[in-house]
Amino acid sequence: MVTDGVGLPAETGQWPGNDLGRAVVPGDRLAERVRELGAEITRDYRGRPPLLVGVLKGAMVFMADLSRAIELPVEMDFMAVASYGAATKSSGVVRIVKDLDMDLSGRHVLVVEDIVDSGLTLSYLRRNLAARHPATLEVCALLVKEGLQRTSLDLRYVGFSIPPRFVVGYGLDVAERYRNLPEIVEYSGPQDPQ
Ligand code: IMP
Ligand code: MG
Repeated sequence: MVTDGVGLPAETGQWPGNDLGRAVVPGDRLAERVRELGAEITRDYRGRPPLLVGVLKGAMVFMADLSRAIELPVEMDFMAVASYGAATKSSGVVRIVKDLDMDLSGRHVLVVEDIVDSGLTLSYLRRNLAARHPATLEVCALLVKEGLQRTSLDLRYVGFSIPPRFVVGYGLDVAERYRNLPEIVEYSGPQDPQ
């Protein structure tokens, strides 16, 4: 297939390319890192299989791949949160749109997140989930934007640190678009498209 240099099928006209910048993480590096994270989680959770908690919708693609790289009998549940405020900036005020189905008490919970930007969403989630008495509570984030105080966020597993730019693909969207791009790409279009 002919691509435009970032692995996108430019000549098919499938993606409106003028909104999309360079590939921040190409698909082959995603696949390789997901395999590594899966191996690490397999080693760390042997004998105490984790309950993967995916944060919808962004973490869906990552969780589907990560779960298949974990060689343990994992269970999965999902929750959806929305943060008030503009589409591309987190306000820190988070609302649960869909709660978990499962009881977390005594479980080894591993939260699977797509991206940590300000960290406000994650600190809210962590407080909320910790109050449900899991045996352990850890976080696996595919992407973390550079410049963050990672230690204060206590991220057990991180896929990649990326520059603090807005990105789409591999589950991440802008106004619900680009989630199915097979790589992480910089987005340079309007920040709050309608
Ligand atoms: P935070 O609360 O600032 O850490 O924002 C976290 C949430 O905002 C993520 O779970 C995403 O849903 C969204 N988000 C933050 N940065 C990006 C980005 O670059 N692209 C797409 N979504 C993003
Ligand atoms: Mg998210």
